Amino acid sequence: MKRTEIKQALLSEDFEKEINVKGWVRTKRASKNVAFIALNDGSVIHNLQLVVDLEKIPDSALALMHTGASVSANGVLVPSAGSGQRVELSVQSITLLGEANPDEYPLQPKKHSLEFLREKAHLRFRTNTFSAIARLRHAMIFAVHKFFNDKGYFNIHAPIITASDAEGAGEMFQVTTLELKKLPFNPEGEVDFKQDFFGKSANLTVSGQLEGELAALALSKVYTFGPTFRAENSNTSRHLAEFWMIEPEVAFFDIHDNMDLAEEMLKYLIQYALDNCTDDLAFLSKRLEEEEKNKKVEDRSMELISKLKFVLENSFERITYTEAIDILKNSNHNKKGKFSYPIEKWGADLQSEHERYLVEKHFKKPVILTDYPKQIKAFYMKQNDDNNTVRAMDVLFPGIGEIIGGSQREDNYDKLLKRMEEMHIPLEGMWWYLETRKFGSVPHAGFGLGFERLMLFVSGMGNIRDVIPFPRTPLNCEF
Ligand code: 4AD
Ligand code: MG
Repeated sequence: MKRTEIKQALLSEDFEKEINVKGWVRTKRASKNVAFIALNDGSVIHNLQLVVDLEKIPDSALALMHTGASVSANGVLVPSAGSGQRVELSVQSITLLGEANPDEYPLQPKKHSLEFLREKAHLRFRTNTFSAIARLRHAMIFAVHKFFNDKGYFNIHAPIITASDAEGAGEMFQVTTLELKKLPFNPEGEVDFKQDFFGKSANLTVSGQLEGELAALALSKVYTFGPTFRAENSNTSRHLAEFWMIEPEVAFFDIHDNMDLAEEMLKYLIQYALDNCTDDLAFLSKRLEEEEKNKKVEDRSMELISKLKFVLENSFERITYTEAIDILKNSNHNKKGKFSYPIEKWGADLQSEHERYLVEKHFKKPVILTDYPKQIKAFYMKQNDDNNTVRAMDVLFPGIGEIIGGSQREDNYDKLLKRMEEMHIPLEGMWWYLETRKFGSVPHAGFGLGFERLMLFVSGMGNIRDVIPFPRTPLNCEF
């Protein structure tokens, strides 16, 4: 018999027909005459209750069906007598597919800490929390493509292996086939990358932006959505060494168009989650509420669904970096020395504590900061006439800080070249990027949304390691 997914079974009105379900046992309890098995197959957060009449099926047949075991059951759906579910399965036959010895199986039908589950990432999909996140993550990936497709954007695959450093920050993972124990050296005493696979030094990409720009300067509206890799040694709840980034790039856009697109996209994605992930969000909201109970009342975050709706209902505050520095410098928070990095003068790089202060305490809504000092931003950003600032934009979110970073791009060949020289960007590998400013250059802009930062916000989870199936962080590459 063909398997019916539990998601379908729970919605079914077909009470006579025999169906087959398969899945993993969440819990089993038995009384004298009847046993109940809560079965989950991942299609939906809810379990299907299997009701086994022990006078028809002997208790011994269920002996190995402990939490974590996989089973196949045939039966008919009946309206449920118990509360909490609409239907249940009256079992006619049941077989064990794979056992899970309760002395060894790490997931028990009780609450496990997120830290514990990180060590069991091969099994944590089987918990409510991580299956909800996996389904939500899928929905968000789909929504990203739908958003851009509906607006006439083209998806571009940027390369994963590159010879350039798109951010010029030197945080790259090297890719090589050279034997580390027998490195070839050139007469200058440097590693001879001419003998390496690509005939030059290569690395994993930190961003698809530069290639996205090449495509935008022909197709007008493009986006990339790919893995990016950063060897920055930051062990925080918001940094991964491998993360996914969505990077739209649009010809003829200025910074204002770029901000409009960022705000529209974020609101679309949040609305999509609210419309399509109702059950999983309801579960994640309850999970967050439980977790917040351990915090002081004033430190508790807003209820998840209300927080998502709140972002939809408010327009993002748009201010310049200079205005933000004034607010921060004059804040009581700063004067009372409550920032770990006190704000003293214009030019300071903003830390996440400052970003969150602006969003959570000052404006109480998402903020877009623009026109940052050129010293703290990448070489490709359009230079303003003041000679001090660039047309950068960062979107800041509650609980997260920076969720998007972007800019209008420098489209003037001479200015770009000069800035690259000033910042010691190796020019020989970037001739192709510079050429686009020689041949039909146009104003253009784009940004990068960190997909896992979005997932943190939408799921209400507190640590970025919990919104990607297999996180890569310093000293952590298991699974
Ligand atoms: O601000 P970033 O470095 O910008 C760029 O990479 C540009 N090339 C984007 C563009 O204009 N096309 O990174 C963009 C976003 C950040 O705002 C953040 O959400 C996320 O990527 N991000 C990270 N997410 C997880 N772990 C990390 N280590 C991250 N670094 C950046
Ligand atoms: Mg940034």
